[in-house]
Amino acid sequence: MSYARISLVILAGLMWWPLVGAAQSAPRDSRKLYAEFCAACHGPALGGGSGPSLLGEAWKYGGDEAALAASIREGRVPGGMPAFAPGLSEMEIRGLVVYIREQAGRAASLKTPPPRPGPEAAASRLHAYRIETVATGLAEPWSVAFLPDGRLLVTEKRGSLRVVSGGRPGEPVAGVPKVDTGGQAGLFDVVPHPDYARNGWIYLAFAEPDKNAEGRAVSMTTVVRGRLKDNAWTDQQVIFRAPVGTFRPAGGVHFGGRLAFDRAGYLFFSIGDRGNQVNAQSLALPNGKIHRVHDDGRVPADNPFVGTPGASPTLWSYGHRNPQGLRFDPVTGELWEHEHGPRGGDELNLIKRGVNYGWPVATYGMNYNGTPITDVTGRPDFEPPVAYWIPSIAPCGMAFYTGDRFPKWKNHLFIASLAAQELRRLELKDGKVVDQEVVFKGLGRLRDVADGPDGCLHLLFPDRIARLVPAE
Ligand code: HEC
Repeated sequence: MSYARISLVILAGLMWWPLVGAAQSAPRDSRKLYAEFCAACHGPALGGGSGPSLLGEAWKYGGDEAALAASIREGRVPGGMPAFAPGLSEMEIRGLVVYIREQAGRAASLKTPPPRPGPEAAASRLHAYRIETVATGLAEPWSVAFLPDGRLLVTEKRGSLRVVSGGRPGEPVAGVPKVDTGGQAGLFDVVPHPDYARNGWIYLAFAEPDKNAEGRAVSMTTVVRGRLKDNAWTDQQVIFRAPVGTFRPAGGVHFGGRLAFDRAGYLFFSIGDRGNQVNAQSLALPNGKIHRVHDDGRVPADNPFVGTPGASPTLWSYGHRNPQGLRFDPVTGELWEHEHGPRGGDELNLIKRGVNYGWPVATYGMNYNGTPITDVTGRPDFEPPVAYWIPSIAPCGMAFYTGDRFPKWKNHLFIASLAAQELRRLELKDGKVVDQEVVFKGLGRLRDVADGPDGCLHLLFPDRIARLVPAE
């Protein structure tokens, strides 16, 4: 390259940032920034122009977060890509990286659409299967549990608990707690006690309505246990109720609401940040946390923050946004969690005692309106996610498969998703994801996936329960 050409290119690189404008003010919408400053060379749909496609078919400098940010920040000046710092702030560069990853992800899934099986047998990478209806006539089922006598317990978001036997949901169980149903509020997880056969305890998580000091309707995630007698809920005991001062406006978002018992019989449960992001970092508040209690709600003496003045004693881990997946690995006994990120940045986490997972200080996502939240994706004192998804899949519910009917799926983790309408299979090894597959997509929003005692994964669609059975 001649000296003249090099200096021209460098000049071009330098010329850009004064046009972009100093980025002192609030970070701008990533889509608009792209249209204004990138589309001319990379094409309006990122498919390429005088500059290469940004849809990720072949990254020259690497498609990971750091490489994409470096390309934008410092440019690839000899190749004709101008530098955009400091005209674009670090936050805005981060927003553009999320935007590029999101568009690339969408384009990839359009090009090779994931399987969308019909009523016949369908293939997946390790097993062929059929989807079989278990029970219909349900409205927004949220969670399913299996009783030793073969009956199913199903919660519906709008507050009903039903017993399903012979494929037919019974009348709603009488006397279950009153539930807030606005927005994302509702009746959430149902889990029998590990020793249910002996003690009959059933645990429920739900959005409990109340009034605050000013008389305004508020709600918060509460956990109770009770017993089932003749289709009635009896013997109820409160396992966890937050102080009413921490209840937030009724309806609204991010309740968490998953329950899981470990081998020792401790109960773990999740509460989301309730839409107030910074609360996830406050040890004083139950919001944005995984909690741990004895099966009767007592605080275990060895919980990580029992000795910390002002901290909620039930906290186990913190810095979570909206955790709606919580299950123990049947082999290693490790606790796995997934949570909804903002736009992009849904996370799969390995939950450790007393650890901070970073929300909202660190995230791989951005705001729904396209503006960045932060340019921090990690920090040495935060535990990074084991996996994250851009674009978002909206994960809800998960299950380790422990049955024998799909031998190659044994101990793999299955994740249901709402927005992406996917069932994902993940193989984990030494705390890492070593394989990931979209088993199917596009059959409806999936609220939960559960490991049935019949060796079949059960799926909660908006109006029914189905299961995957092997197809030879
Ligand atoms: C003047 C034209 C031009 C503009 C404007 C421009 N780019 Fe580029 N960009 C290029 C060219 C040419 C390359 C290829 C550089 C190379 O191959 O060395 C490139 C490369 C890149 C790469 C690296 C791609 C890879 O394969 O690793 C990224 C990422 C990128 N641009 C993002 C952006 C973003 C985001 C903007 C807007 C803020 C932008 N570009 C604006 C011309 C442009």
